[in-house]
Amino acid sequence: MTSVSTRHVLGLREMPRERLVGLLESASSLLPVVTGESGPRDALAARVIANLFLENSTRTRVSFTVAAHRLGATTVDLLGSTSSASKGETLVDTARNVAAMGVDAIVIRCGASGGAHLVSRHVDCPVINAGDGTCEHPTQGLLDALALTQALGSLDLTGCTIGITGDIVHSRVARSAAYALTSIGADVILIGPPSMAPRSLEGLLAGLNQTGRGTVRVCEDFEGVLPILDAAMMLRVQFERGAAITSDYAAMYGMTPARAARLPEGAFIMHPGPINRGLELDNETADGPRSIILNQVTSGVAVRMAVLLEQLGPHL
Ligand code: CP
Repeated sequence: MTSVSTRHVLGLREMPRERLVGLLESASSLLPVVTGESGPRDALAARVIANLFLENSTRTRVSFTVAAHRLGATTVDLLGSTSSASKGETLVDTARNVAAMGVDAIVIRCGASGGAHLVSRHVDCPVINAGDGTCEHPTQGLLDALALTQALGSLDLTGCTIGITGDIVHSRVARSAAYALTSIGADVILIGPPSMAPRSLEGLLAGLNQTGRGTVRVCEDFEGVLPILDAAMMLRVQFERGAAITSDYAAMYGMTPARAARLPEGAFIMHPGPINRGLELDNETADGPRSIILNQVTSGVAVRMAVLLEQLGPHL
């Protein structure tokens, strides 16, 4: 039997499908803890988890904190704006100093692509990537997969087509979601203007998806693919990473009520958040009956519980 390291959660690109499905199954079984139908656990009592968030976050940081607390662990938060990173301390020095305090795991968000991998080579504890530059956001990809598989009623998405629309080129979310969704069988269409969804992404994502079974293709025509989508995942335009849009962007690539009506019956609308309302999604589509955006957020806590248990649980 091949031994596959499950130390760290750095990305989904090379995560074997068995491990990814195992995490989704574990997260699915933990959803009742998140919704309050089942009580909290104490599997990680006395564990200390450090949240190193050198980029801003609402969902991911709170979600990791809630997940840790639901498992009995304690968390400490270090934010970029109030840490010595603001005085020029390097990412590796920051992480090594926190690790030297004896924390059991480091959850890290940073602006540098590859930053989580880099840190994992310099500390002894497990490292969980909470988003690194434009590279990956693995727990987001897992939560997208969990929310969608819960909505569609199957962990096998073979035969399903998921559209990911918008600022793909800057999106770690799109990459991790594409790896996760193709891994469980879905076909993914990356949709946007060539400046945001260049054809080169097709080979990049398909070629890197080691254990995936679904396909990845790029498409400019959002309107044309709507009728074949089982879910439309809309992406935030990342102005802070230099994204530029033309004045017709919302008209061409926004999810309006008229576009939502062209989706097949039973198709879902997703967004990782934060939403630029009126740009990627109208209020009616963000908050409408097809939206599973808040289910994604709920799923995120379960996924992060599953990840923390995998890394720190009593089986280790
Ligand atoms: N989806 C996501 O990563 O949101 P935050 O940036 O608020 O964590």
